[in-house]
Amino acid sequence: DLSVTWLGQTMPGCLYNASGVWCREEGELEALHASAAAAVITKSATLTPRDGNPEPRYCRTPLGSINSMGLPNRGFDYYLDYARRYRYGSGKLLFLSLSGLSLDDNCAMLRRLAEEGLPAVPEVNLSCPNVPGKPQLGYDFAATAEALEAFDATYSGLYGVKLPPYFDPAHFAAMAEILNRHPRLAFVTCINSIGNGLVVDIDSEAVVIKPKDGLGGLGGDYVLPTALANVREFFRLLPGKDVVGCGGVKSGREAFMHILAGARAVQVGTCLYHEGPGAFSRIAGELAMLMRVKGYRSLDAFRGRLRTL
Ligand code: DHB
Repeated sequence: DLSVTWLGQTMPGCLYNASGVWCREEGELEALHASAAAAVITKSATLTPRDGNPEPRYCRTPLGSINSMGLPNRGFDYYLDYARRYRYGSGKLLFLSLSGLSLDDNCAMLRRLAEEGLPAVPEVNLSCPNVPGKPQLGYDFAATAEALEAFDATYSGLYGVKLPPYFDPAHFAAMAEILNRHPRLAFVTCINSIGNGLVVDIDSEAVVIKPKDGLGGLGGDYVLPTALANVREFFRLLPGKDVVGCGGVKSGREAFMHILAGARAVQVGTCLYHEGPGAFSRIAGELAMLMRVKGYRSLDAFRGRLRTL
């Protein structure tokens, strides 16, 4: 049994897409909903549509991926309209990723969502590394604190935030203290891509993506241990909140690791990009088999039970 009860609902499994992957167009979102994914999250929306950065802006590598998409998306109204028509009765939660270019834009989108009274849950993205000239909000603690105050004043339902990876215990503690001020912040998704990596191609002696002279967000195998560290640390530091694991999941084994580290649910990014929505049935089957071998009948039986030495 891979079902997950959180946010006042029970969804049929624990796996869904990482925002950005397979979720920009309605047809992709519908394919996710029809797959073994247990929930659906939309591409990070800005208030108005964007074409994003020049191509090539995504590259597969032997260990994962690098991207600098630059928030190409259909604009908030498109995803809101999808949310109006979504089949919530399936039990698959719908999350709307919001990535406004300013605090006002994020609040405007949250206000519109609140007015609609839909069951869709916002995941506010504090960690897009790919808009030239826009630093990630999640690395500015004062700006993050101010943003969460504004979200609280604007939106009265439960919501989550997508965090960048942190690399220092002082940063985990400082961010947790800010997040813990907000009871309606129900979950944090850890992690976004490791920002501003650089992949080098030896044959061409060149970078592999065009924006930002080759700098981009890393996903896949590169990020698994960093993702697990962030999941485990925030699981410990945010009692009463849920942590969604994201980073390096390509089989049931990595999904198991995320849940052992404390994840309530697990998102799949790079692997979904490369394999398509069929990845969800494969990974869910592998996770179920691993649980059977270990004698675990539910995710609750091992969530957060990672042992230390
Ligand atoms: C994009 C990348 C991200 O990591 C993110 O959180 C939002 C948007 C992008 O480049 O489109």
